[in-house]
Amino acid sequence: MRIALGADHAGFALKDKIKEHLSARGVEVRDEGTNSNASVDYPDYARLVAEDVIHGRADQGILVCGTGIGMAISANKVPGIRAANASTEFEVQMAREHNDANILTLGARVLDEAAALRIVDVWLATNFAGGRHQTRVDKIMGVERDALEHKL
Ligand code: RB5
Repeated sequence: MRIALGADHAGFALKDKIKEHLSARGVEVRDEGTNSNASVDYPDYARLVAEDVIHGRADQGILVCGTGIGMAISANKVPGIRAANASTEFEVQMAREHNDANILTLGARVLDEAAALRIVDVWLATNFAGGRHQTRVDKIMGVERDALEHKL
């Protein structure tokens, strides 16, 4: 498993904790930054991680900003990405099982470190359920395809 990580200034400290946690679990990490408190723009990091995922440089991505919301909105602009912002273990389980999310976004101003790492562990442990959920994911991707082909 290879995971690309990205964060803005609000998320970088938690992103580094997630990096340590993943490395300790034997997950290969690709760290796209940022690496300080200096103010940066979250869409830049969302784009780097989303491009890693769609180009196969990573299997999945994890993005951290203050709320996780800006990262999710940004990453979901990249065709092929299904980014889900989760602040509970149930949400992250559903994001993988039902939505086949390929990027998890987290809010460093929403979650403490322990809660965030538990969510990451559920993310890693949960597979897509397929079946009727595949039909629905196919419909999501159909909307994207139609938008790209100017059919909306
Ligand atoms: C940065 O202040 C903040 O807006 C950002 O981290 C994030 O929460 C945006 O969604």
